[in-house]
Parts: sequence; C-alpha cells; structure tokens
Amino acid sequence: MVDWEALWREALYGPSGFFTRGEVPADHFRTAPLVGAELAEALLVLLDRVDFALGRPARLDFVDVGAGGGELAAAVRAGATGSVAARLVVTAVDVGPARSLPGVRWTAALPSSVHGLLVGHEWLDAVPCPLVVGPVSHPWLDRWWPVGEGERAEVGEPRDAAWADAVSRVARGAALAVDYGHVRADRAAGRYAAGTFAAYRGGRRVEPVFDGSCDLTAHVALDACAEAAGGDRVLVSQRDALAALGLSGAVTAAAGPGWLAAAERASRIAELRAPGGLGSFGWLLHGVGVPVSSLLPPLPPWRP
Ligand SMILES: C[S@@+](CC[C@H](N)C(=O)[O-])C[C@H]1O[C@@H](n2cnc3c(N)ncnc32)[C@H](O)[C@@H]1O
Repeated sequence: MVDWEALWREALYGPSGFFTRGEVPADHFRTAPLVGAELAEALLVLLDRVDFALGRPARLDFVDVGAGGGELAAAVRAGATGSVAARLVVTAVDVGPARSLPGVRWTAALPSSVHGLLVGHEWLDAVPCPLVVGPVSHPWLDRWWPVGEGERAEVGEPRDAAWADAVSRVARGAALAVDYGHVRADRAAGRYAAGTFAAYRGGRRVEPVFDGSCDLTAHVALDACAEAAGGDRVLVSQRDALAALGLSGAVTAAAGPGWLAAAERASRIAELRAPGGLGSFGWLLHGVGVPVSSLLPPLPPWRP
C-alpha cells in the first residue's frame, strides 16, 4: 500500500522539499498576509485584548507558526505601537530557511512556553496526512469523516496532533489557527466526497506530483483540531472575526485626498472578508488562562 503521508512529507519537507528549500506562498498562491497589513492590524487588536487579560505583562509574545515568508510576523512587529510595542517579542517559526526581518526572531522549532498569542496562519493545511479511498475503517474517519465506496478523504489526525502540541505551548494567552477547511456535518453529507487534496505551483492549481516541485495541501478539519486541543475555544468565520476586531471595510473618508487610500484599504478588507474566499476561512481560537469570551464577542459557528 502506498504511504501517501510519507510521500507528501518528503515532497514538502525532505532534503530538497518544496518548503525546505525556501519556497514561499508569495511565489505560488495568495494568502491573507500578502493582501496587506490589515490582517496584522486585526491580530494586534486581538493581541491587545490578550495583553489586557494577562494584566499587561513585562513580556508579551506573538508567535507566527508556519511563517512562510514572514510577512505576518513582520507586519505585526511594524504595526505594534505604544506599550505593546515596547514589551512585544515577535517570533517566526518555520522549517524553511531563516529570514532576516527587523525585530523578528526566526526559529525552526516551536517555543516551549508562550505568554501571549500564538497564530498558525495557513499552517495546518501544509501538515501532511494520510490520503484514503473508501471504503475504509479508521477511528479518526469513523469519528470525523465517514467515507463511502469510492469516496476520497484525508485523515486529519496529524493536524490534530500538531495543533494540540502548538496550543500546549501556550502557558497563558491564546492560540489561533486560521485556515481553509470543513466541518463534520458537511463531510458526512458528502460535500467533500472527492477529498480536498490539491497542488499549486506558480499561482495555478496543477496535478499533484510528489517531487517537491509544487505545494501540496488539503483543507483542514478544524472541528477535529478544536477537540484535540480542547479547552475554552470558539470556531468562527474570518468574515465575522475581522468585523468583531474592527475591520468592517466601510469607506469612511469623504471625497478628497484621503479617499483613494481609504477605498484601497476597503477593497483589501473586502478581500479578507469575501464570502466563498478568504472570508470563509475558519478562525479556531483557544483561550489558555484567558476566557475566549474576553477576546471575541459571541459569533455564529463557522460553516464554510
Ligand atoms: C502554506 S504556508 C503558509 C505561510 C504563511 N503563514 C502564510 O499564510 O502566508 C505553510 C508554512 O508552514 C511551514 N511549516 C509546516 N510545518 C511546519 C512545522 N512543523 N514547523 C514550522 N513550520 C512549518 C511550511 O514550511 C510553510 O512555510
């Protein structure tokens, strides 16, 4: 039997793997940190709420796991102001080559103890997992993704373990996974019967090959990740979360010199909040020693 998970891991993270040799999303696909600084802006609002809940500690962490080109970490560092900026320690974590970004520490391994906010932005979709064709019986599939005759699926167990490990690194604060994905109700209803495994190269979807020439990815069962990490948590849409953090996208500037910049900003926010696009990404937020209700107001459950 082919070990697809091992092939996938080798293709991305082997000695000449796609991410090992330093390929970054900017060259192959568009992620929210590449849209502009607005995602970082929203995360700084979230970080400020975490900071307040922690009692404004002497050191405040922002950890970007699976940092890619480091755009998000750099934008958070650049956008921080006042007392938060003075106490903030920004760490980018990636297995790819270290990058030199002002004010950002780069490391290949997750820190052991985080006091602040840990974010995995489009990280979990790049964690390889077994690919199966039904019928197949497996405890994870039985619980999370019933697979019928001829149906395809990805076994999300390695993502669950990766996320549970990341959340366990947070001593106090919050952990946020942002990704494209699905929930059990839709998987069980057969909406993803063809599976979601896919490959991208140079901005295009291509036939998957396991030779390190393309990014290999699959949607994330964020509901399974939520249960695996446990604790106080919510799973909401990026569209709703961004609005709750102050990014609504309304153009408030009157016609005049500031109007064009305001309209451009509104269009970036609209892209981040677009239904069916980035707005349909899930935000899985865990509080650790901090109630999630102090970080986000009640929002509808995510249903991509
Ligand atoms: C799809 S990219 C996302 C990059 C960036 N966060 C963004 O949204 O633009 C996934 C990244 O996760 C990194 N990655 C995967 N597994 C990792 C691990 N265990 N530790 C650190 N980085 C990892 C990959 O090297 C890759 O750069």
